[in-house]
Amino acid sequence: MKNIAIFASGSGSNAERIFEYFVDSEQINVKLVLCNNPEAGVIQRAERLQIPLIIFDRLAFKSGEVVKILQHNQIDWVILAGFLWLVPKNVVEAFPNRIINIHPALLPKFGGKGMYGHFVHEAVVENNETESGITIHFVNEHYDEGGVIFQASFPVLYTDIPADVARKGQVLEHKHFPEVIERTILASV
Ligand code: GAR
Repeated sequence: MKNIAIFASGSGSNAERIFEYFVDSEQINVKLVLCNNPEAGVIQRAERLQIPLIIFDRLAFKSGEVVKILQHNQIDWVILAGFLWLVPKNVVEAFPNRIINIHPALLPKFGGKGMYGHFVHEAVVENNETESGITIHFVNEHYDEGGVIFQASFPVLYTDIPADVARKGQVLEHKHFPEVIERTILASV
């Protein structure tokens, strides 16, 4: 059994999808949810789904305390599902090629510091893009720069507002993220 920890900062819809997908799996177990935002919707979801939840701050992240928690819980893989802080070096080094992120655009477009959530969708519309999409990638110490594992795209219509782009992206995220996590983990066993 491979244990995964999901890091989330927001509503947690991807975290919930991932949890539901693996609930009966004999190979992959969602062991923990870690959240850096005490106001985040993911907290209620984790409580409802009865997934152990840890709320942490920047100091715990940078000092190595979060890595200790992950190791203590025998976490094999870290999944970033709407997690908005840069992952510090001590965490990247403790989980080499074992951290996966989802980004709501076709990287390298619309990535980097400050490009997350609605900022991405607004930039896509402002730039008159005719398509956007999602990227699932390995995480290194730089925002949105690790190796790409998977991308999927959708058309952006000239009538689309950022909320339309967001909605189309989330449909693809919910459809693909759990399966891509499963394939990536099982391919490395
Ligand atoms: C997702 O769309 C994810 O791609 C994005 O945050 C959203 C979280 O939604 N992540 C980033 O922008 C990371 N740079 P959720 O909380 O409902 O899963």
